[in-house]
Amino acid sequence: MEKIAVYPGTFDPITNGHLDVIKRGAEIFDTLIILVAERKEKHTLFNINERIELVKCATKGVKNVIVKPLNGLLVEFLKKNDVKFILRGLRAVSDFDYEFQMALTNSMLYKEVETVFVMSSREFIFLSSSLVREIASYGGDTSMFVPECATKKLAEKVVK
Ligand code: COA
Repeated sequence: MEKIAVYPGTFDPITNGHLDVIKRGAEIFDTLIILVAERKEKHTLFNINERIELVKCATKGVKNVIVKPLNGLLVEFLKKNDVKFILRGLRAVSDFDYEFQMALTNSMLYKEVETVFVMSSREFIFLSSSLVREIASYGGDTSMFVPECATKKLAEKVVK
């Protein structure tokens, strides 16, 4: 049976840490659907279309990957598309509470679902999208933290 997983996130913007999780997830699952969440409650730097474009651009060379928007509840998407696996990355112990809470809530809402965690590679443990946004806001170089297309877009946003 084909194993399909979703990797949901805000990706504001996608970082090399996310890309590391995506590449590893694409090796584990036959198809990995990257779900870019709308997050109306969050004031994101990039709008949903920009975030999707950046994820698409960053994952061009990665096989088995599809990028889609997520507008509602994650479990509703999973039920509608008959997907049973959620992929998430764990960076440090500090991620655990939040991830555990989400995994348990999702499994309460949809008991067939399984959240699968991959541990962040050593070089990305410290990395976060907000850190990258902050560096860009001061005109700093983000090229070692995010894929090339995101570096360009971050620089453009700051100049605007
Ligand atoms: N490498 C680098 N950074 C990482 C990372 C990794 N491996 N894993 C997480 N992060 C960082 C991100 O950069 C981001 O940093 P920031 O907070 O500084 O901006 C933060 O961790 C989390 O971002 P992300 O991985 O994009 O996930 P998220 O926590 O924003 O995603 C959703 C949350 C979208 C999965 C969740 O809100 C959701 O499912 N929403 C849909 C509605 C729903 O069903 N809600 C009920 C959920 S129980």
